[in-house]
Amino acid sequence: MTHDQHFRVWRGDDEKGELVDYPVEVNEGEVVLDIIHRLQATQAQDMAVRWNCKAGKCGSCSVEINGRPRLACMTRMSTFAEDEVITVTPLRTFPVIRDLVTDVSFNYTKAREIPSFAPPEGVEPGEYRMAQVDVERSQEFRKCIECYLCQNTCHVVRDHEENKENFAGPRYLMRIAELDMHPLDSADRQKAAQEEHGLGYCNITKCCTEVCPEHIKITDNALIPLKERVVDRKYDPLVWLGSKIFKR
Ligand code: SF4
Ligand code: F3S
Ligand code: FES
Repeated sequence: MTHDQHFRVWRGDDEKGELVDYPVEVNEGEVVLDIIHRLQATQAQDMAVRWNCKAGKCGSCSVEINGRPRLACMTRMSTFAEDEVITVTPLRTFPVIRDLVTDVSFNYTKAREIPSFAPPEGVEPGEYRMAQVDVERSQEFRKCIECYLCQNTCHVVRDHEENKENFAGPRYLMRIAELDMHPLDSADRQKAAQEEHGLGYCNITKCCTEVCPEHIKITDNALIPLKERVVDRKYDPLVWLGSKIFKR
């Protein structure tokens, strides 16, 4: 079945832009990204949108649909009423490049600021041994597709450009939590989380968890446990060492 829908898409660049109205055909089974592609094929050939897999796995097509941060390729048109106006805007937290494409390099910067996995001295790749329970814990965090919807949603940076320098955001605090819980990681993650990556800015509103398309329990399983570990330790290096030795 086919019907016409009223789309409203933000068009512009880093200097100015506006919402532009498009009446557009919608067919059964389509997702929002299909409609954006139809607009490109028919009435707006120069409309910029980032996408790749159309399967919810590459994390490229993040936009805001009626104000909600979503993957355009995983948002079914059948979830909207046929007479509803569908407004598609770029992610608000990152600078616009053009139309629906934003510059997400903030996230790459934050990723680079976290030192990588640091195995104990003398343990070579191939000699790593860890309990299955520890493997399973980090597997949840490894489902991340780096769509940055959580980074875009967290109020700490969404309306506060000034916080960006000192706050890594939920995706990267989760990465630190993953490394801190890793039985073979020997770096001091807790002090860095608090003092360099802004763990204290997070007041556990859980908005990040709500928008995660991989349904990762970012707040409950990564951020709150990391906060608890930081508080327990109270910056006592002996307590921290103990937490590394006895955590299994
Ligand atoms: Fe996207 Fe979830 Fe990864 Fe955040 S944690 S970047 S919302 S997949
Ligand atoms: Fe932000 Fe998630 Fe914390 S939305 S405030 S990082 S719980
Ligand atoms: Fe890959 Fe949407 S196009 S997640």
